[in-house]
Amino acid sequence: MSTRPRVVVTRRLPQPVEEELSRDFDARLNRDDQPLGPDGLKEALQTADALLCTVTDRLTAEVLGAEPRRARMLANFGVGFNHIDVQTAKHLGLAVSNTPDVLTEATADLAITLLLMVSRRTGEGERHVRSGSWTGWRPTHMLGSQVSGKVLGLVGMGRIARAVARRAHHGFGMRVIFHDPYPPSPSEAASLGAEPRASLDHVLEEADFVSLHCPATPETRHLMNRERLGRMQRSSFLINTARGDVVDEAALAEALSEGTIAGAALDVFEKEPQISPQLLSLENVVLLPHLGSATHETRIAMGMRALENLRLFFRGAPLRDPVT
Ligand code: DGY
Repeated sequence: MSTRPRVVVTRRLPQPVEEELSRDFDARLNRDDQPLGPDGLKEALQTADALLCTVTDRLTAEVLGAEPRRARMLANFGVGFNHIDVQTAKHLGLAVSNTPDVLTEATADLAITLLLMVSRRTGEGERHVRSGSWTGWRPTHMLGSQVSGKVLGLVGMGRIARAVARRAHHGFGMRVIFHDPYPPSPSEAASLGAEPRASLDHVLEEADFVSLHCPATPETRHLMNRERLGRMQRSSFLINTARGDVVDEAALAEALSEGTIAGAALDVFEKEPQISPQLLSLENVVLLPHLGSATHETRIAMGMRALENLRLFFRGAPLRDPVT
């Protein structure tokens, strides 16, 4: 029998990560990459010392309560942990870690990608070319909105938002405004060219582009509802690389079809991988399949960070990235 801790890995991971995992742990890999589902997760909690889990695993109180439980740790692959009932995990004495920092740059790159895509109508343009409808260049064809010099409003000013601000201000000469109850120091904000606003509403009313960077919590659920979407300018765009729950998708579809706002670009959705049919039918929305951290470099770094937390846990050392 192996004396190495047993770790159930809930999804396929980049090869170098799986290799290191298999070397250091008695790792049960998920070779066919099918989500385990509630029963599979319960079985994993009952048979393994730890789970290396991720955003597609719903670790609810009911799942975590599986008895008799062997697992003592959840090493989450990802920075967001709204899919884990952390209160219950804590109550049960299960340690939880995540993988911050290493995905900041990739996710900020994707937020800028979305911003450019929606303002310059690139998804629409590509569909136009591929469908064979393009009849040639003309001065009034598929005009979008200029990005350079516009106002970017950041909702939340954590690591990823700051990386977006740096790109937007120093790369595109955008004016950056933000609202966060825990703002960066005035000198850090100034280095990003970012000005605080006293309320979310001020950001929504002033920004040409609103980019969401707050965690999904009960307080931020449907933060962007009908009323708040209505505070945005009719010429403005909404970008979401945070979590689908933060936006009321039905209200957004309505705002997009009625022209309350000019467009939206989304990497995350309320019921992934399902997308509401109304959104699918609209041209003024960019839809990506949760690609924020999807680069080879970042996904390997995320896996290595989860591994580091696992190693520390089984050595009895403090976790590098405890989730509290
Ligand atoms: C995260 O890290 O929370 C992402 O959404 C998944 O990569």
